Amino acid sequence: MASKIRLGILGGGGDSLIGVLHRVAAAMYDQYEIVGGVFNPNWEENIGFAEKIVLPTNRVYKDFETLIVEETKLTVSESMQVVSVLTPNFLHFPMAKKLLENGFNVICEKPMTITYEEAIILQETLKLANTVFAVTYTYTGYPMVRQMREMIANGEIGEVQKIDAQYYQGWINPIIHDKEKRSTTWRLNPEKSGISCCIGDIGTHAFDMIEYVTGLKVNAILADLNYVYDDNKMDVDGTVLIRCSDTTKGVIRTSQIATGEENNFTVQVYGKKAGLKWAQENPNYLYLLEDGKPLRVLKPGHSYNSEISLDGTKLPPGHPEGIFDSMGNIYKGVARAIRKEQYDHMEFPTIIDGVRGMNFIEKAVESHQKGNIWVTLDD
Ligand SMILES: NC(=O)c1ccc[n+]([C@@H]2O[C@H](COP(=O)([O-])OP(=O)(O)OC[C@H]3O[C@@H](n4cnc5c(N)ncnc54)[C@H](O)[C@@H]3O)[C@@H](O)[C@H]2O)c1
Repeated sequence: MASKIRLGILGGGGDSLIGVLHRVAAAMYDQYEIVGGVFNPNWEENIGFAEKIVLPTNRVYKDFETLIVEETKLTVSESMQVVSVLTPNFLHFPMAKKLLENGFNVICEKPMTITYEEAIILQETLKLANTVFAVTYTYTGYPMVRQMREMIANGEIGEVQKIDAQYYQGWINPIIHDKEKRSTTWRLNPEKSGISCCIGDIGTHAFDMIEYVTGLKVNAILADLNYVYDDNKMDVDGTVLIRCSDTTKGVIRTSQIATGEENNFTVQVYGKKAGLKWAQENPNYLYLLEDGKPLRVLKPGHSYNSEISLDGTKLPPGHPEGIFDSMGNIYKGVARAIRKEQYDHMEFPTIIDGVRGMNFIEKAVESHQKGNIWVTLDD
């Protein structure tokens, strides 16, 4: 009988935003068992958190280097098989690289690294490691996002002619206008966050979502970013025009100073025959728009949905799917890949998505800094 996949976690401690999402996602399909990790660089908090989540502390380590040394001493049937990297951005690269070099499968938060150069190095490292690597662009796990992708791929909306993704949050608004706060949050510190805050944090979700649902590649962008204060080094708002081709164009609208907004992430794709609209704050509804016809609303769990959409739905229609389910679906796909079972390559974002995300961030900043010019993304 197969045993549960042994999972280690780096970051995601008690004070973190994303830790609980990964722990619940890992438990959702009964495929993983958390066996240890490093939850916090402070030892007392690290151990204290492990005790709080009722995790035996014998495999809670002081840092990721020690985790790798100690875990590689264990037998193949005991050691961690996959490690999730949930720390602030600047730690993703050194942690993920060393894990890959030591043969671990890796689930890495986005943005994958803090520079495009690091992303390319990680891609080369993965080629040698030949393990599984996932980047958690969480929203691609929603059943109705997967349904949107399938419908576009099947030609149900015709050739895509207009793309619009919006990601509006307001959480930085009270921080940006307070000099002390804006100089102390890690997300506004380029050394910890990378060269961009808003585009790096949420613009990348929108960019990845567009490429995921349309199956198209964005090949050129023009960005206009807003830093609000001269002493602030990081964008907190940005609008990016995108071109996939001369006839398929669109816009990514992002903000973390959209006062009062929570997690208002939407994606709209319009083809020659029809349009599709999805919104993260209301994720169980996929809207189908057609010329001269009444609006149709598609929902999860119905037999009219595609196989990959239904695979991500656990309960009959009417039981809402949420962000935990979406991340759970990504973990489920990764589990299949680790077990070398058959899986659909759209079940989880890969290193390619991570690399493209980093290229997008750097090009958006370059476009803005050069006076809002068109710049080309790498293939
Ligand atoms: N996929 C998503 O939708 C999504 C959403 C939120 C955050 N994120 C990403 O998740 C990552 C973490 O974000 P967050 O909001 O949870 O950050 P956070 O600041 O809330 O938490 C960071 C955690 O990392 C731990 N940590 C810091 N240094 C460490 C070290 N050296 N070793 C081990 N642990 C360490 C901290 O103790 C804390 O528990 C970021 O890369 C962020 O972009 C992704």
